[in-house]
Amino acid sequence: MKKIALTGIKPTGTPHIGNYLGAIKPALELAKNYDARYFIADYHALNSIKDPKSLNELTYEIAATWLAFGLNTKEVLFYKQSDIPEIFELSVFLSAFTAKGLMNRAHAYKAVVAANKENNKDDDFNINMGLFTYPVLMAADILMFDTNVVPVGKDQKQHIEIAVDIAQAINYNYKKEILTIPEPLINQTMELIPGLDGRKMSKSYNNVISPFLPTKKLRKLVMKIKTNSQGIEEAKNPDECNVFALYKLFASKSEQNDLRKRYEAGGMGWGNAKQTLFEKLEEVFAPYRENYNTIINDKAEIDRMLREGALKAREISSKTMQRLRNSAGL
Ligand code: TRP
Repeated sequence: MKKIALTGIKPTGTPHIGNYLGAIKPALELAKNYDARYFIADYHALNSIKDPKSLNELTYEIAATWLAFGLNTKEVLFYKQSDIPEIFELSVFLSAFTAKGLMNRAHAYKAVVAANKENNKDDDFNINMGLFTYPVLMAADILMFDTNVVPVGKDQKQHIEIAVDIAQAINYNYKKEILTIPEPLINQTMELIPGLDGRKMSKSYNNVISPFLPTKKLRKLVMKIKTNSQGIEEAKNPDECNVFALYKLFASKSEQNDLRKRYEAGGMGWGNAKQTLFEKLEEVFAPYRENYNTIINDKAEIDRMLREGALKAREISSKTMQRLRNSAGL
């Protein structure tokens, strides 16, 4: 039997090329060898997105992005978290086995507390219980579906460790392997993708490039990538340049060498380097953009696929919950 891979994306922002390279592309690659279960973590997004129109729109955007890049719903179990009520029941079950101290030590929560202190705010400022118990809901996502591996970025590693802790506490208590112990599969690519300002590409830095922007807008954005202020004639160092770092992620070795030579020879302005990057992005993403536009314009079809996915997912989740209830004497 194939091993099970599961991951989720929160619909909290328009997908960008960092999401594609760091999460979506490797996950679709993995789906060739694993029994893959990929979902949209919309209840996780609710912690921060309170405007219903935005949440709804972003959810469709994430769904259409997966599909545009080739997720095949016949091979991958594809669903929306909020369509699986058992996940929320499991989350309550897991809470009974989760030390509060474990949540106090979660990096994401601690970062918000630290920022509050920094800004002389109350420690709890802007922190809802959804944020505090975020790792429990995420553990429910994972443990519900007998997950073996969870492909994620480095920032999510601790969340998987928490899921492991909780699962072990439950198995230990009931003296049987009720829950499968998951393992993180860390993708490092995400750390290497610079955004427009040179920091890691992230929606929280507002420095992202969406792969599905119309051609003109894509070009305009690429032209905004931060570089140093060297003049046209000066020789430039490709290894200290955001434009080149992005180009490298998409170009072949020989294309990379060509551009490297142009940097080192001098006589190439930043506008030219950016134009070369833009043309590469356009070449790579134009076909996907076309897919995306077709898909996002047929929301009824997206709904249908997600509904179908939810039906299949619930066959699994209802069994997991039954197993747990029986074990617990509920
Ligand atoms: N926390 C993940 C993120 O922010 C999203 C997520 C929610 C997730 N549930 C998950 C990822 C379960 C993997 C498995 O990126």
